[in-house]
Amino acid sequence: MFLWGTATAAYQIEGATAEDGRGPSVWDTFAREPGRVRDGHTGDVACDHYHRWPEDVALMSGLGVNAYRFSVAWPRVLPEGAGAVNPKGLDFYERLVDALLAAGIRPVPTLFHWDLPQALEERGGWLERDTAARFADYAAVVAGRLADRVPLWITLNEPFVHMAYGYAMGVHAPGRALLTGALPAAHHQLLGHGLAVRALRAAGAREVAITNNCTPVRPASREEPDLRAAEAYDILHNRLFNDPVLLGAYPDLSAYPPGLDCVADGDLDVIATPVDALGINYYNPTRIAAPADGAGLPFADAGITGHPTTAFGWPVVPDGLRELLTGLKARYGAALPPVYITENGCSQEDVLTERGTVEDPGRIAFLEGHIAAMRRAMAEGVDVRGYFVWSLLDNFEWAEGYHQRFGLVHVDFATQRRTPKASYRWFAGFLEGQNTDT
Ligand code: FCB
Repeated sequence: MFLWGTATAAYQIEGATAEDGRGPSVWDTFAREPGRVRDGHTGDVACDHYHRWPEDVALMSGLGVNAYRFSVAWPRVLPEGAGAVNPKGLDFYERLVDALLAAGIRPVPTLFHWDLPQALEERGGWLERDTAARFADYAAVVAGRLADRVPLWITLNEPFVHMAYGYAMGVHAPGRALLTGALPAAHHQLLGHGLAVRALRAAGAREVAITNNCTPVRPASREEPDLRAAEAYDILHNRLFNDPVLLGAYPDLSAYPPGLDCVADGDLDVIATPVDALGINYYNPTRIAAPADGAGLPFADAGITGHPTTAFGWPVVPDGLRELLTGLKARYGAALPPVYITENGCSQEDVLTERGTVEDPGRIAFLEGHIAAMRRAMAEGVDVRGYFVWSLLDNFEWAEGYHQRFGLVHVDFATQRRTPKASYRWFAGFLEGQNTDT
C-alpha cells in the first residue's frame, strides 16, 4: 500500500503549550526572546490543533489521504524531559491515533521535531551525550502506549537542520551559534536515533525510520575548487546523517575542524541499527561554490537561478527530487532501504478572497511536478513507498512565524477558521484517481 499523506509537527500546530501538564520546550523559550522570530510570533496558540484535532482529522478524511505524519511533543509526554510521565500528554496522542485509525488514516508519528524539553536544554541539550539516552527512554514511553496501533515510526526529523540552524547558526531554538562546534549535536542526535530504534523495537514497534532533509548538491562549475566545495557541502548536509545510519561510518570530515571526539566505541553500531525505511524531506537542490579566501567554512552557497521561487524564495526544481532519489540509490545501493518522502511542499502568497476561496495554482503545479519526478525515480528503480505533503495546515513556520503559508488548508490565525485551498481540492481529486494498493 503506497502511503499518500500530509505532514505536520507538534510545535507548529498544537498550541496549548501550557495546558494539561505540558512542560516548556526550547521553542517556547526561543520564541519569547526578542528578535528571534519574525514579529515576535510564538507557537502558544498556533493552529489550536490540541483542541481542534477532530476537525483536522475530518479535513484529512475529506482529502482522502491514507496516512498522516505528525509529531509527538516530548515535553507533553515528559514535562521535565525525563522521569515523571504526564499521562494526559499520552492520552492526547492516543485519542488522535485512534481517531485516525477509525478514519482509515495510518498514523505516522515523529518522536522529535525540534521541541526539546527546556529542562534537557538546561543540561546541555543535544551537545550532551545523556540527551541521547533520555530520547530512547521517551521513545519507549510513547511506544509503550501506542506500538500496537502505529504502523510506522519516525525517530528524528531533519537532524541536519536542527544541528545547523539550532546549534551552528543560532537561527532556530536553542539559538546557539557554535559553527562547527555544533558537530556533537549531530552525533548525539544520531546516537539517540539508534538507541530509540532499539527501544521502539523492544516495545513492539513494527516499522521504524529516520527522516533526513536531503538536497542534491550541484557544483557552481567544473573547476576543482568548486567541485571540492560541493563535495564538502554534500558531506555535511547529506552524508553526515545518512552514512552512519546506512553504512555505520561517518564520511570523511577532514574539510572541517575536528568536532567528533565525542564518538565512543560502539556508537556507530548503535547508530547503524537497521531501519525499515528512510524518510526524505525534499524542498530544493543546492548550488555550491568555493568559499572566499579566509571564510570560516569550506563552501559558499552560490544560489540556484533560472527557476521559479516559492514565497520563501526557495527555487522550485521538481526534477531535483528525481536526481536526489536516484543519487541515493547510486550511492547506497543495497544498503538503501525503502524510502518515504516524508515532506515536500511550498509556501505561496495565499490570499483568502471575499468569496472565501484560496486559489493557489503555484502549489498545485509544485505538487504535480514533484509527484511526477518521484515517479520517474521509481521508474528508474528507487523503492519509494509513500509521499507526504508539507503541510496539512498553514502553521507556525519557525523563525518566519506565521508568515509562510505551506498548507493545503488555509488557517485564519485570528479566528482559527480553516478553509481548504484549491490545492486541497486538486489533491483530493488526484487521490481519488490513485490505486493506493500499488
Ligand atoms: C522542514 C521542517 C518543517 C517545515 C518545512 C517547511 O525543514 O521539517 O517543520 O518547517 O521545512
